[in-house]
Amino acid sequence: MASGLNSQVVKSELRASVLVVTIANPPVNALGMDVRRGLIEAIAAAETDAAVAAVLIVGAGRNFIAGADIREFGKTPQPPSLPEVCLAIENCRKPVVAAIQGAALGGGLEVALSAHYRLAVASARLGLPEVALGLLPGSGGTQRAPRLIGAKAALDLMLSGRHAGAREALALGLIDRLGEGADALPEGLAYAQELVAAKAPVRRTRDAQALADAETSRAALEAARADTARKSRGLFSPMKIIEAVEGALTLPFDEGMALERKLFLQCIASPQRAGLIHAFFAEREVLKAPETKAAKPRALESAGIVGGGTMGAGIAVAMLDAGLPVTMIERDEPSLARGRSHVEKVYDGLIKKGRMTPEAKAAVMARFSGSTSYDALAQVDIVVEAVFEEMSVKKAVFAELDRVCKPGAVLATNTSYLDIDEIAASVSRPGDVVGLHFFSPANIMKLLEIVVPAKVSADVVATGFELAKKLKKTPVRAGVCDGFIGNRILAVYRQAADHMMEDGASPYQIDEAVRNFGYPMGPFQVSDLAGGDIGWATRKRKAAARKPGDPKVRYVQVADRICERGWFGQKTQRGYYLYPEGARTGQPDPEVLAIIDAERQRAGIKPRSFTEEEIMRRYMAAMINEGANVVHQRIALRPLDVDVTFLYGYGFPRHRGGPMQYADSVGLPKVLADIREFAKEDPLFWQPSPLLVELVERGADFASLNQSE
Ligand code: 3HC
Ligand code: NAI
Repeated sequence: MASGLNSQVVKSELRASVLVVTIANPPVNALGMDVRRGLIEAIAAAETDAAVAAVLIVGAGRNFIAGADIREFGKTPQPPSLPEVCLAIENCRKPVVAAIQGAALGGGLEVALSAHYRLAVASARLGLPEVALGLLPGSGGTQRAPRLIGAKAALDLMLSGRHAGAREALALGLIDRLGEGADALPEGLAYAQELVAAKAPVRRTRDAQALADAETSRAALEAARADTARKSRGLFSPMKIIEAVEGALTLPFDEGMALERKLFLQCIASPQRAGLIHAFFAEREVLKAPETKAAKPRALESAGIVGGGTMGAGIAVAMLDAGLPVTMIERDEPSLARGRSHVEKVYDGLIKKGRMTPEAKAAVMARFSGSTSYDALAQVDIVVEAVFEEMSVKKAVFAELDRVCKPGAVLATNTSYLDIDEIAASVSRPGDVVGLHFFSPANIMKLLEIVVPAKVSADVVATGFELAKKLKKTPVRAGVCDGFIGNRILAVYRQAADHMMEDGASPYQIDEAVRNFGYPMGPFQVSDLAGGDIGWATRKRKAAARKPGDPKVRYVQVADRICERGWFGQKTQRGYYLYPEGARTGQPDPEVLAIIDAERQRAGIKPRSFTEEEIMRRYMAAMINEGANVVHQRIALRPLDVDVTFLYGYGFPRHRGGPMQYADSVGLPKVLADIREFAKEDPLFWQPSPLLVELVERGADFASLNQSE
């Protein structure tokens, strides 16, 4: 009797003549082995039980099914496979209905596509996001979706990975009915009973006819191919998706399925899949800091910002966008007016692009206020300081905050490099002081380093994570040191790039190598974008802080020579590149090459040639080695925290998973051997990280250190 059949994660219950099959595999009903088995058994039972007239598949909890169990990829596959499950559903001789709430993603949507009828309620999100994991829909999605909704719409879903809402899904033909209630079970049950009463036939998606117009389908395919070749630089799975859909256009269903399988397994084997899935889990793991487990966040209903420059204005916009009221403090009225206009400029830009109405701007700006008096911050829950990068200025600001802010207010600094322990020690309430290091432009960049000084309370750190959630940013916990996780590592591989430049590679060659690796920009382009003056000021500050006995590290002076000419990058139309007429893409500058030549001569260096491969080997070795130091010194909790920092703050190519995951994919012994080889020329710069050495000795990798604390 079908109604008696139950597994831990798939439960069947006969309601009138409908067998309700509920997938209950928290948190998101992923299609792990037990679920696949349970589904096969439930369908088989429905076939043989005369009391069953139709089957209804639903998900318990908020979601239908979030897809295949991502944790199983890369492990030995356990039968039954998901394509087999989908085939069993589609082949069922009794009508099968899928009723969707929440996520029906990837394999989850493929299960629904194998059902004969589909209903979704308003909360439903349908999509084939496998591309984001370096995969393609591997359970018939590439064959069934085009047959159901046409090549163009199916390719769009598969190549973008985006989620469609229930209403759009209905318009696309992905579902048959929109349920009016919020709960998919009663809606689906009513639909199934209606189908039974109407003696609705079994209707298989494989027989759907949306590809009937061959010319339109072919045109959609070719357009997607051209677009993908242009956009998805070096990515493996998008072209495989197109190949699979071409199979749907040209092959009988079963042969198309075989092609899809072959291409899916190629994607599974690709290092890009490993990198992207690492990124998926890493960006969720970073949320699990010790403090977020130990403490509840404090109230977060209003915010203050001190300083309305580049960062302060961007942070204000991020806060306003999250619905918080914001009070900005500046040192005088003209600066405050400037700060306010920086904020308004962002919204005016959106209005110009048609992405915001003037009324919406007015509503947002109604939550913004400014003052030159700190007293205006007396009632705010959190203050973020973003004034000049000067310890004395920061301390003066914190003294004011200490004076006016209510007890329990979180006092945060956006400093890039300064010692936050020292700032905390200067106030009477060090437990309330935390670093919140935003990245420029702060309303756009997704990374937020949450810098944890020695004396901070756990609930203040937890509030930082809560703020990141409100601002839709990705938080990474970092310890206090010069540059925290990101800028500290950046300083090291940036030097490696400078060394290569002085030794014979041109900045243009280095930028190109870095772009070909998958970055949107090379390091010299980034300098030009950020403004060379910022780095120049930091170098001068560090030079002034040097003590006589400090080791004499190699120092490349090219950047100083360029800055001395007032060439600060894009904003001055000249830096490492030329930007005629304010162009955003630079052109190589022969005068910069001449400066580099002169510097080589001054330093007595005979230039040599570099291959792209050597450039990347050195660039990455420097990044990985300092990443290992940062983990070793507990500035980053785990290697994955370094990875997420670079994915979200520094444009590291996501398909490589982050520098530490990349190191694992190369092999740590090889990285260490490279560093030891480079150390023969410059032992001071290339000192192998003790952690890297230890891992190689143990035969371990960075991934082994990634378990949650
Ligand atoms: N497999 C395994 N675990 C998964 C998972 C999956 N498909 N989807 C989510 N999880 C886990 C997360 O890792 C997280 O675990 P944690 O609590 O231990 O950190 C937990 O479920 C909750 O996930 P979120 O924090 O992301 O929850 P949200 O409510 O914010 O989002 C979601 C839910 C929209 C479903 C989101 O988790 C998501 O996008 N999941 C991935 C969807 C996806 O990519 N599906 C395709 C898989 S590949 C596939 O199906 C191949 C097939 O074609 C053969
Ligand atoms: P900025 O120079 O653009 O802005 C600083 C603002 O602070 C100015 O508007 C100034 O009037 C105001 N200010 C100075 N002293 C003040 C005081 N005592 N009271 C009130 N306001 C005061 O500087 P930017 O770039 O916004 O940097 C601010 C902070 O953010 C620095 O600590 C910097 O290191 C950090 N940061 C900068 C990033 C960047 O890319 N620019 C990125 C991340 C952090």
